[in-house]
Amino acid sequence: SDPDPLQDFCVADLQSTASINGFPCKPQSTVNSSDFFFSGFTKEGNTSNPFGAIVTPGNVLSFPGLNTLGISMNRVDFAPGGLNPPHSHPRASESGVVIQGKLLVGFITTGNVFYSKVLGPGEMFVIPRGLVHFQKNVGEGKALAFTAFNSQLSGAVVAAPNLFGATPAVPNNVLAQAFQIDDSLVNQIKSKFMP
Ligand code: GLV
Ligand code: MN
Repeated sequence: SDPDPLQDFCVADLQSTASINGFPCKPQSTVNSSDFFFSGFTKEGNTSNPFGAIVTPGNVLSFPGLNTLGISMNRVDFAPGGLNPPHSHPRASESGVVIQGKLLVGFITTGNVFYSKVLGPGEMFVIPRGLVHFQKNVGEGKALAFTAFNSQLSGAVVAAPNLFGATPAVPNNVLAQAFQIDDSLVNQIKSKFMP
């Protein structure tokens, strides 16, 4: 859903201090083949974190050749039981394919309807733009998926750290009222997500 390109390519100059929507192009004379290939997905991500899952982004920030082209991908690795926690992408729909393992993939609509399925290798899913979704490894071993987006930088709002780990902090009384819980439980959840 990004704007259309106005030229063949515009390899991002990520160092530029120019303030524009996106990134300016680096000089054409400095562009070479390496700008259009990305080896960041060749290695398994390190899933040693509380969620047991890790996203390796192939977006304009890691792969500047994607600038202005309106697409990007992620590699997502899961330890057994690992969860890519509930999140949404403000600027893109997402599609994905499971390469290895067994993933429970689900999203929730604006009307709070939950759609989900357990997918195996070769099976594909779609997450409509902006909707909250997750993937959980429900198989015995590791799992691996690749995802794709119609944006060079889809953005990700991860629900729990967004609300409970914001800087500066969202007031406790707001979170207590929103989730209908008491102050001590807010503090308990905040303690897991505060940076
Ligand atoms: C998975 O949901 C991803 O955003 O890569
Ligand atoms: Mn996603």
